[in-house]
Amino acid sequence: MGKEFAVSEEEKKNLDRHLPLIATINNQELRNKVYGLLARALRESPYRDICEVPNFTTKLMGGPDDETFVRHTRTVTNAVVAFAREFQSAYGFNIDYDVLLAGAILHDIDKLLLYERKGKIVELTATGGKKIHGQYGARMAEDAGFPEAVVNIITSHSPTAGAVPPASIEAVIVGCCDAGVFQCYRLMTGRGLWRKSESLGPGNFR
Ligand SMILES: [Fe+2]
Repeated sequence: MGKEFAVSEEEKKNLDRHLPLIATINNQELRNKVYGLLARALRESPYRDICEVPNFTTKLMGGPDDETFVRHTRTVTNAVVAFAREFQSAYGFNIDYDVLLAGAILHDIDKLLLYERKGKIVELTATGGKKIHGQYGARMAEDAGFPEAVVNIITSHSPTAGAVPPASIEAVIVGCCDAGVFQCYRLMTGRGLWRKSESLGPGNFR
């Protein structure tokens, strides 16, 4: 699976505290890659702590919003696991939980590098103005040597222009749980359903 990235014990402990499902990835090489990509992206990001990473641009939400990458990612990942267990028990289809977990945990990894908080406002970084959410994250995962099944989950989860379709049941599950959590959050915060026609440019996406 390619290159390893050295993660300190402190970085790993912090990631485990906020995203505890990383530790449930069975394949050690894949699990270490997930720690590695998150730690490296955090080091290269404008943030010192993963809890500071925002999840939506102000433009996408039509105003200030305090949703975080950690809470969104944890909610989506927990929902994905519940969905997968139900589907597997109903139909007997063997879900690849390692691929599912890695893809769910990393589906928004590029937000660490594409979004920047300035007070109450979340804007695109210079990179965010040039790259497409989801597709940039997929590139990061590909460069880190993740399997194609994980890369596809990341690139297919967001309905950006030119996004590839989901290539597996695992990718469908992540895309649909992410959309569900996003739309529920929109309704809960009084913003109404987001519609695909509300295109705000390639960076401003869920
Ligand atoms: Fe996303």
